[in-house]
Amino acid sequence: MKLLQAPNGLYGSITVPADKSISHRSIMFGALAIGQTTIKNFLRAQDCLSTLNAFKKLGVPITDDGTTITVTGVGFNGLTKSPAAIDIGNSGTTIRLMMGILAGQNFTTTLFGDESLNRRPMERVMAPLRQMGAHLTGKEDSEFPPITIQGTKELVPIDYQMPVASAQVKSAIIFAALQAKGTSTIIEKEISRNHTEEMIRQFGGKIMTDGREIRLTGPQTLSAQNVIVPGDISSAAFFLVAAAITPDSQLYLKNVGMNPTRTGIIDVLTQMGAKLAVENVDAENQAADLKIETTNLEAITIEGEIIPRLIDELPIIALLATQANGQTIIKNAEELKVKETNRIDATAEELQKMGADIIPTADGLIINGPTPLKGAEVSSRGDHRIGMMLQIAALIAKGVTTLQFPEAINISYPNFFNDVKKIIAGENNA
Ligand code: S3P
Repeated sequence: MKLLQAPNGLYGSITVPADKSISHRSIMFGALAIGQTTIKNFLRAQDCLSTLNAFKKLGVPITDDGTTITVTGVGFNGLTKSPAAIDIGNSGTTIRLMMGILAGQNFTTTLFGDESLNRRPMERVMAPLRQMGAHLTGKEDSEFPPITIQGTKELVPIDYQMPVASAQVKSAIIFAALQAKGTSTIIEKEISRNHTEEMIRQFGGKIMTDGREIRLTGPQTLSAQNVIVPGDISSAAFFLVAAAITPDSQLYLKNVGMNPTRTGIIDVLTQMGAKLAVENVDAENQAADLKIETTNLEAITIEGEIIPRLIDELPIIALLATQANGQTIIKNAEELKVKETNRIDATAEELQKMGADIIPTADGLIINGPTPLKGAEVSSRGDHRIGMMLQIAALIAKGVTTLQFPEAINISYPNFFNDVKKIIAGENNA
């Protein structure tokens, strides 16, 4: 596919799609609560539809009238055995969080995914769930999917020091702990996105958090809620960077989720000197509008506790750094290697094709800028965030860029290319 260019800058406003992490969890909590949960602004993209379909297979009635999704919650004791193995597609969040939920069920379930998901590490989730009493096995005794989960109604609580900073691992343990009899304590390696903890409270459950320490007592009963999903800051990130690096641009991004465990990209842009304003803050729904204009950017070092707050944004931040003055260093981001692709290699190799000065390291990237980019033949490698990052790179590249596997964007942002087109100055707006 030939990618779009923006010779006259970017201009206009975009309402970015709904938050992927919250959309997944809204189905899960809806299913596990008692009563009817309604979800507005649900992300109808492949990953979240994998979650929706998986819970239907477990006997949860879910309807969609085009505006509102209604989940008739069955409670922790109302899920039923799926007649067949469940296809989870590309979604790491779905498979890992479901492992925690299914660990507490008295039936056996097999979850499998696409080629990418079947290469992603699961021992990090299986190990703590085994300690709690569930029986989990990967394909041919490996840690990789298909994963078979033989749950138990007799889960025991856990005291667990997490070896990786991962909201997916944390959430799987929390879902199991909600079903175990007694108090579990989880110590995070670094603070990661806290949507699971927040939604437990929203659905009437109890969980204590103090810095990196999380404590909860099971079993708990949750009650149905009306959920409104805010926009996804991880999707907004592509346009924040696009406006920052494309000369003569100004963009408004509306209703962007501003949960502080997700806003590392705002901190990075601010530190690099971007012209970014946060407006119309809706504190109750943790959302705001963001206004951003093109400006000169300075290189920075990105490391340590900020990494989990921007983990999904690192490919697009790497592109941002190619246009900043000086050397940007990204460290402590080895988790990028086990995402939908190895995002350290994919980001470096694809941007190198476009002329960027970017070197992969064991736990991150080193980028020297500013470097003019040139059109090239690049590939998403089947990874949505790599594909979207490359489209943003193409906006400022000289010459034609073509993208292989553009359909990868359907995982989180099916309307992405249309939204890009909408804001190219001179296309639809002067
Ligand atoms: C997610 C957690 C992150 C993130 C993923 C969504 C979640 O993964 O990369 O896109 O919704 O919990 P890890 O927890 O494995 O870092």
